[in-house]
Amino acid sequence: MLHVMIRLPVVMLSPIIPGLSIWIEVPLIILLLMLLYVFVLLKLVRRFFHFPAPAFIGRGLDSRPRKRLQPPSMIIEALGLESGMAVLEIGCGPGTFTLDVAKAVAPDGIVYAVDIQEKMLDQLRTRMKGQSVENIMPILADAEGRIPLESETCDRAFSVTVLPEIPDRVKALAEIGRILKTGGLYGDAELVIDPDWPLPRTVKKWAEAAGLKHQSMRGNPLRYVLVFSK
Ligand SMILES: C[S@@+](CC[C@H](N)C(=O)[O-])C[C@H]1O[C@@H](n2cnc3c(N)ncnc32)[C@H](O)[C@@H]1O
Repeated sequence: MLHVMIRLPVVMLSPIIPGLSIWIEVPLIILLLMLLYVFVLLKLVRRFFHFPAPAFIGRGLDSRPRKRLQPPSMIIEALGLESGMAVLEIGCGPGTFTLDVAKAVAPDGIVYAVDIQEKMLDQLRTRMKGQSVENIMPILADAEGRIPLESETCDRAFSVTVLPEIPDRVKALAEIGRILKTGGLYGDAELVIDPDWPLPRTVKKWAEAAGLKHQSMRGNPLRYVLVFSK
């Protein structure tokens, strides 16, 4: 069985990488298969157990390759962010998107950065200091509960690879809707390499159940930003 599992991709790959030594090809394929199995396993686990991404992955989330795949400009452009806006971010993590968004709404705008884990907010505070960004207010809260912000206070809201981690997404989206001003926009960005990656139509279903109206989609189903209005 193992022989077939290794030999099959070698046969399939040989026309793609002609002339590659078998001693490189086989370990490469084993590595790819192992990554695929880990990914599928993680996807299966995440299907039944929803829990926040552990804080130790903060570095990976803020890495250069990740930012290349999912640049913060995607959110800035999709939401038409301008100086002076008040923005809510749900599940900010280490601040990969928070800092760029805060710079886009500076000097008078503000980002309310909500996360359920203090350790993620600590990483955000470190990056704020490092980049001398002050217009971010880190807030420790569960988006599924009540976020300590008045209703209709934000012009924009967004989340990136967060919604599937929240057991009751519709409740969290309704809380985002409460904080958004009427006519305000909410953007959700997702990426296929996230083991939690949902299809755009799934996110649309959650958001519409929370009373948000779908406006547009940027990117493609593997890497997208969906925009909704209140
Ligand atoms: C996969 S990370 C993404 C972080 C960041 N948005 C990014 O894309 O780099 C998901 C983040 O959502 C946070 N999170 C999960 N459930 C949450 C909840 N119920 N309320 C607030 N934040 C939550 C986690 O703590 C984690 O920081």
